Amino acid sequence: MTDKSSGNAAQLATAADRTTELPILSGTVGPAVFDIRKLYNDTGCFTYDPGFTSTAACRSKITYIDGDRGILLHRGYRIEDLAEHSDFLEVCYLILFGELPTPAQREHFVNGVTYHTMVHEQITTLIRGFRRDAHPMAVMIAVVGALSAFYHEDLDINDPHNRLIATYRLIAKMPTIAAMAFKYSLGQPFMYPQNHLSYAGNFLHMTFGVPCEPYKVDPILARALDKIFILHADHEQNASTSTVRLVGSTGASPYAAISAGIASLWGPAHGGANEAVVQMLAEIGSVERIPEFIKRAKDKDDPFRLMGFGHRVYKNYDPRAGVLKSSADEVLDLLGKKNNPKLAIAKELERIALEDDYFRERRLFPNVDFYSGIILEAMSIPTSMFTAIFALARTVGWLAQWNEMVEDPEQKIGRPRQLYVGADERPFVPLERRG
Ligand code: CMC
Repeated sequence: MTDKSSGNAAQLATAADRTTELPILSGTVGPAVFDIRKLYNDTGCFTYDPGFTSTAACRSKITYIDGDRGILLHRGYRIEDLAEHSDFLEVCYLILFGELPTPAQREHFVNGVTYHTMVHEQITTLIRGFRRDAHPMAVMIAVVGALSAFYHEDLDINDPHNRLIATYRLIAKMPTIAAMAFKYSLGQPFMYPQNHLSYAGNFLHMTFGVPCEPYKVDPILARALDKIFILHADHEQNASTSTVRLVGSTGASPYAAISAGIASLWGPAHGGANEAVVQMLAEIGSVERIPEFIKRAKDKDDPFRLMGFGHRVYKNYDPRAGVLKSSADEVLDLLGKKNNPKLAIAKELERIALEDDYFRERRLFPNVDFYSGIILEAMSIPTSMFTAIFALARTVGWLAQWNEMVEDPEQKIGRPRQLYVGADERPFVPLERRG
């Protein structure tokens, strides 16, 4: 696929009697953008866009979202097709390298990831320094950031080989670190990765296995988890990805950048929403109480929001939520849990919300977090691990975007400007003359 972006049209912008030409750049698909890079130089004005609602910060070839139509493409492939026909490591390859792998490329890549899954033994000491009740996300932020202290040779990010090794290491070690954080919270021994298992199967083994008896990976659970990983693999310039790009733009190590991405993901408005959805469904408790919570979500004086609903980009059904809704039915049925009360509440909540004018007018639909937690809970994964699972799956997206940024000749250190509304210059007042 070629990058069609070009300055093929322009718009004049005038500010304070100074005029500049703003070239219009067109991508392959999606809205065109004004190239405002010369705006300040030519007019002395900045643009103002809190939350970046109208600002494209980079060119990217990785992921495309059509929010109005509810379409998500990775390298041109629909997420529904990838979830149905592919597996997570193949999707990782696609996201990182731009094409689906040949059988030989796939084997080489899977091998590379598999043989980097162990962490340095000193990491166990690091984790043991935490309180047992530490949230797994807190542990992951620290441990992933600390990997910089273990791999000094990766710190020259301008070397493509270093970047590739760091990419393999991070994709491979995230499940190990997430599972270790969980095991530590239980007081159980850490489980070493098993290289004969699949990526998802290995995570299940390290999460649920114990050294005193063999753990048999349930293929249904492994496939369901793998699908969840695929659905979370990348989502273009969301808050955590933009964080990774911003940190990476300073030349920081990939481990520092990914650690910052994990921190950004943790918030309930972002990846923390999957945990919040399950807590919300538990709080609602029964379908009879749904109207009470819908009323609260609409009340501007109540901070409560319907978690797992709404999205900055999707003004239609999030395609990932669609896949997860069917997957929830399938997995719960296979696990003999199809009468799960939370699933019943979630479906009824969705039905009522989608008929309600408040949600219709604002085009608020279920997002990826709405059904994922129900599946994870049915798989006996504790709520505190939900966002950690999101983080381990999103790592490939963060890395692909980070690699793309480092290779982009237009890339500069990220440095937004501001509209200053504070005090103008004034003389210093000595302490005895204040008050
Ligand atoms: N419940 C009730 N009202 C909502 C909700 C919601 N979940 N989401 C948005 N609104 C309302 C909001 O109050 C506002 O109303 P008004 O125009 O009257 O002021 C309007 O819809 C637009 O909302 P916004 O906050 O300006 O939209 P945004 O693009 O800044 O925020 C969002 C997007 C995802 C942060 C927000 O929809 C939200 O907080 N949702 C709940 C948390 C959630 O599910 N997050 C996961 C997002 S998807 C996965 C991920 O990113 O990790």
